[in-house]
Amino acid sequence: MSKSISGFSKLSKSHKIDWIVATYFNNNDNAKNIIKQYWNSNIKLQQLHDEFIENTITNYYLPFGVAPNFLINNKMHAIPMAIEESSVVAAASKAAKFWFERGGFKAEVLSTTKVGQVHFIFHGDFPVLNTFFKTVKSKLIQATQPITKNMEKRGGGILDIELRDKTESIDGYFQLHATFETLDAMGANFINSCLEQFAKTFREEALLYDGFSEKEKDIDVIMSILSNYVPNCLVRAEVSCPVKDLTEDPSINPEEFAKKFIQAVKIAEIEPFRAVTHNKGIMNGIDAVVLATGNDFRAVEAGVHAYASRNGIYSSLTHAKIENDIFYFWIEIPLALGTVGGLTSLHPLVKLALELLHNPTAKELMQIVAVAGLAQNFAALRSLTTTGIQEGHMKMHLMNILNQFEATQEEKNTLIEYFKSHTATHSSVVEAINNLREQ
Ligand code: HMG
Repeated sequence: MSKSISGFSKLSKSHKIDWIVATYFNNNDNAKNIIKQYWNSNIKLQQLHDEFIENTITNYYLPFGVAPNFLINNKMHAIPMAIEESSVVAAASKAAKFWFERGGFKAEVLSTTKVGQVHFIFHGDFPVLNTFFKTVKSKLIQATQPITKNMEKRGGGILDIELRDKTESIDGYFQLHATFETLDAMGANFINSCLEQFAKTFREEALLYDGFSEKEKDIDVIMSILSNYVPNCLVRAEVSCPVKDLTEDPSINPEEFAKKFIQAVKIAEIEPFRAVTHNKGIMNGIDAVVLATGNDFRAVEAGVHAYASRNGIYSSLTHAKIENDIFYFWIEIPLALGTVGGLTSLHPLVKLALELLHNPTAKELMQIVAVAGLAQNFAALRSLTTTGIQEGHMKMHLMNILNQFEATQEEKNTLIEYFKSHTATHSSVVEAINNLREQ
């Protein structure tokens, strides 16, 4: 078994690599070469990446692709996507092109409220605590002035603070439940700073409050932290067209396709096993844009899936219907995104992605991301309810299998041509490579 190490964080990057290669790779030069192969030749740029996180030894590339032809609220976009999975960018692009010819996507931001909480234990009665809260609420807000003044100048800040009684679930457990408007910032640092100040002022004021007994004065703050569940930071995106215009392929009847498509969505609305995969397909689009624009995809994922379960059953994030012979397909999701702060002004590729999107406000980015999710889901459901997913997906995945077998450019050209008229599965591709090499 490998030995533990103390002080690893204090070692230089090259000593960290030496230790890793000696301890886990038997001093194999190949491991060291792979690690170094991914370093950027621009020393300043490499240092920037080294300093994003801790104990960095190299970079981990993800392809950065672009899906063009997105018409959103009558404005054209080419959407940047960072993702490793084949067929996602192609599917988004195909859906964008399809809906471009049918009026494009309509998107609107429904709300932008973020949430943070101070969780604490109070040994006493709610009415006593509530009277105290009412007397100190303005002081809580006042004490955050140095933190909030710039945000307030821009039109944001603290919206409200509520006292919440959670003692039915945990003995003595209460919350300061605060809401915020953080405009173009995702707001995590701003919210957490405000919450930590609330907690400090709240505790200090409690110690001075005459209405409390000595025991009541001793408020025990457990933690102060934003919530990544933002059900009131919502965006909606929609497409619609007459049912008769719903397919380009003359062999597919548009009415039958629309019905089948809506059934597929309804199944995802009531069946969690299907809903998880359905929503995973939506997140293919959402995460890729969130990542390319330097936002926190873990926060988005956690918040979106909580929202998908808000009615007590995990359900579809998209919905579809036919009304007066018009097909409607829409998504409604919570998205806390930023276009200032964080990586947005630090990471050169993130800056480029935002510029490609015409430097959107956070609200505009919410709309673009929701559209990417809706487009992705449309493409996946269209394939699932017509050809099946494997045909298109394997067509795109073909290159990965060819690369796995180190196919030469000539072999690639021959096999890409061959699989235009043959079904690509992993084994059929392997067989074709072997046949070609035996010839
Ligand atoms: P196709 O009809 O064979 O494509 O579709 P095409 O060659 O006729 O090209 C039409 C357009 O598609 C192109 O227009 C592009 O927009 C796009 P053009 O650029 O020629 O004017 N396109 C491409 N874009 C970039 N690179 C390419 C490329 N090929 C086509 N190489 C396609 C092929 C894969 C698009 C289609 O079959 C499709 O949309 N499939 C769905 C794929 C999908 O959903 N993938 C996600 C991964 S599967 C998954 O994880 C999710 C899932 O489980 C979710 C769920 O269950 O709901 C499925």
